[in-house]
Amino acid sequence: MLKGKTVILGVTGSIAAYKIANLASMLVKLHCNVHVIMTKNATNFIHPITFETLTNNRCLVDTFDRNFQYNVEHVALSKQADVVLIAPATANVIAKLANGLADDMLTTTTLACTCKKIISPAMNTQMYQNQITQDNLQKLRDYGFEVIDPATGMLACRDVGEGKLPDPEILLDYILKEIAYEKDMKGLNVLVTAGPTTEAIDPVRYITNHSTGKMGYAIANCAMLRYFLLLVPHKRAVLFCACLKQTKLKIRKSEPPHLSGFFYTHHGRLNPPIFKK
Ligand SMILES: Cc1cc2nc3c(=O)[nH]c(=O)nc-3n(C[C@H](O)[C@H](O)[C@H](O)COP(=O)(O)O)c2cc1C
Repeated sequence: MLKGKTVILGVTGSIAAYKIANLASMLVKLHCNVHVIMTKNATNFIHPITFETLTNNRCLVDTFDRNFQYNVEHVALSKQADVVLIAPATANVIAKLANGLADDMLTTTTLACTCKKIISPAMNTQMYQNQITQDNLQKLRDYGFEVIDPATGMLACRDVGEGKLPDPEILLDYILKEIAYEKDMKGLNVLVTAGPTTEAIDPVRYITNHSTGKMGYAIANCAMLRYFLLLVPHKRAVLFCACLKQTKLKIRKSEPPHLSGFFYTHHGRLNPPIFKK
């Protein structure tokens, strides 16, 4: 699915860094060319050898590494990349990127990249909610970065709140959405039905068909990757609408419409990137 595509994964000094090994592996299985760039602090959490073994590419850490090829590495890589995902992104790297600092391989390469840049913050709840971090994230959004809202749950520090790195499958969806297909359905609204239908015979009896809804989900998923606005009218959708009404959640106006594809891809979860209080 990702043959010929190059993804840069930026890994920073967060306890969640280990999750990216799984993501790198999933991308490689989709025939993607994966380059991992780590901050020096990230190497305290996971060893570069893990990524080198999984990706078959040298994991870059040091901008001034002389034991490699002649190209100015950060520029060469930035030209190859189809998408950059920085996950987990520490408060420190977010602050650096928001202010144009480029004092290591990751920030230098990111600054040089002209492709889509996605950032997935992961940190303690107070660090994440700190106005400085929020301002930095807003700055990055204004500069065209896509920011993945962190998940909520128990953090490594045992606090419970927002700040968790989303599961690798969710991070993969963000990458796929960006590079997996031509965006030839942009601007289209697709209505997909999924699951069984029932037709009343009389007020008591009905005829129906065996359907798991899997085909509808697969079609909707494919359409999402080709950029569309999705509506899936089936039982779960009704449940979602009820949830939306109850919690007064709204589709975020600033969010590009294709994100509503996530409505169903994670099997019934209200996904924070789409719905915001
Ligand atoms: C055990 C441990 C876990 C950490 N987890 C995080 C984290 O999840 N998010 C974060 O922003 N900082 C975290 N930090 C702090 C960063 O590692 C620290 O700010 C570091 O300077 C970040 O460097 P980098 O941004 O260059 O990778 C953690 C530190 C330690 C010791």
